[in-house]
Amino acid sequence: MMVRLQKVIAASGIASRRAAETMIRDGHVTVNGKVVRVLGTCIDPSKDHVKIDGRHVQPSEPEVFVLLHKPLGYVTTMDDPYGRPTIADLVAKVKVRVFPVGRLDYDTEGLLLLTNNGNVAQACVHPRYHVPKTYLVKVSGVCTEEEIQNLEDGIALDDGMTAPAVIRKSGKAKANSWLEITIHEGRKHQIKRMLEALGHRVMRIIRIRFGPLDLGDLPAGVSRFATDVEANALRGIVHRTTKPRNVRAQAPRSDLQSLRPARDTGPPRVRTTSPPAKKDSRSKGSKARPAPGSARRPGRVVKGRGRPQTRKG
Ligand code: URA
Repeated sequence: MMVRLQKVIAASGIASRRAAETMIRDGHVTVNGKVVRVLGTCIDPSKDHVKIDGRHVQPSEPEVFVLLHKPLGYVTTMDDPYGRPTIADLVAKVKVRVFPVGRLDYDTEGLLLLTNNGNVAQACVHPRYHVPKTYLVKVSGVCTEEEIQNLEDGIALDDGMTAPAVIRKSGKAKANSWLEITIHEGRKHQIKRMLEALGHRVMRIIRIRFGPLDLGDLPAGVSRFATDVEANALRGIVHRTTKPRNVRAQAPRSDLQSLRPARDTGPPRVRTTSPPAKKDSRSKGSKARPAPGSARRPGRVVKGRGRPQTRKG
């Protein structure tokens, strides 16, 4: 994985990023024996040898945040003893060891964060940090206003009442309903259990937001690195000292307004074309077509849109 030279130096703890830049400009830094004065030069810390004034720089592992559009039929684990397809198959190109933040069920699709930053991972799943997660959910039957209110207020599950949620309905449903549900808890099968408690079978779940991250038009089966803005937002979660406002106040504008297809018959504009759930289908979902009506650019492989982040300090 290629990382900017000044980041590698700063991550090693020898100098701040700015001081590292000065050292590079002033000709103190060599890569594989050659002086490098160009800022922004990228190196592979696992292969390239960096020295400052002849002293070896010990690289530290870069901090990595990976956004994956998990398709159906993959287990959220890096290693499955039963040999089922795992999310590890989809992020095989990420050379740093990462682990999933929370989990999505085998039959749930959508945004999954993987990282090697344990503090961020812990904060994202700990209820104290109130990180909102938004799901598009297709349920059997039509949800009444009363049921929606129940879902919002809290449902009695066998492990206690659910915390307040935000529910938005997509259009006028005939046989099945699409709901957008924002929760900040992460209990096992929570969405399914909430709806099944009201007698609605869950037919499809797609997670479209996770804290500051948006699934956007990332095709199913494809991963990308977080941008610097996203990575900073994730790091910011750890440093929150006050509880954020309740999930209702936090819920962003409804995706169902912006993403709903012309007819209320399918999921909103989420690229859910999945590669077949096979062991050898590795991050090659870029053939997914944009959903009907999508104005976005089709076909771009978004893998690596961001950069790996170098751990500070
Ligand atoms: N709720 C569920 O029921 N399943 C998931 O995968 C995520 C939330």
